[in-house]
Amino acid sequence: MTVENTLSIIKPDATRRNLTGSINAKFEQAGLKIVAQKRLQLTKKMAQDFYKVHKDRPFFNELVDFMISGPVIAQVLRGENAVKHNRDVMGATNPKEAEKGTIRNEFAESIEANSVHGSDSIENAKTEIEFFFAQIELIY
Ligand code: CMP
Repeated sequence: MTVENTLSIIKPDATRRNLTGSINAKFEQAGLKIVAQKRLQLTKKMAQDFYKVHKDRPFFNELVDFMISGPVIAQVLRGENAVKHNRDVMGATNPKEAEKGTIRNEFAESIEANSVHGSDSIENAKTEIEFFFAQIELIY
C-alpha cells in the first residue's frame, strides 16, 4: 500500500445543487483526506487545457461548455492508493453503470453532468494537481 495524492473536481451540476458537502462526506467517510481545496470558475481555455487528452472526442466541446457553466471545486485527496480508491468511491463514468452507494450512482445527472472528476493514473494525478495547485498549497 502506498499513500498517494489525486486530483478531484466537483463539477458544476453538483455545485449548482449545493452537493459539495454531501460529496465530500463520501470521500471523508471512505478515508480520503482533503489536503487542498479551491472553488473557482474555469475559463474556456482552462477547461480546454485540462481536458486536452479528449480534444478529438465527439463530446469535447460540450464537455468544455458544461465545465464552464458554473463553479467547480478543485481539490486534492490523499490516502492509501488514493488514485484508485477515489475512482472506486466515484463510481463508473456513466451513472447508469455506477455501483450503488457511489457518488455518481447517488448524485450524477448524466454521463456529462456526472458530478465529479478524478485522476485516472498516478502520472495524470501529478499533472492534474500541478494544473491547479502549487506544492505549498497541499497541507497534510
Ligand atoms: P471525467 O472523468 O471528468 O473525464 C472526461 C469526461 O467527459 C467524463 O468524466 C464525462 O463527464 C465526459 N463525457 C461526456 N460524454 C462522454 C462519453 N460519451 N464518454 C465518456 N466521457 C464522456
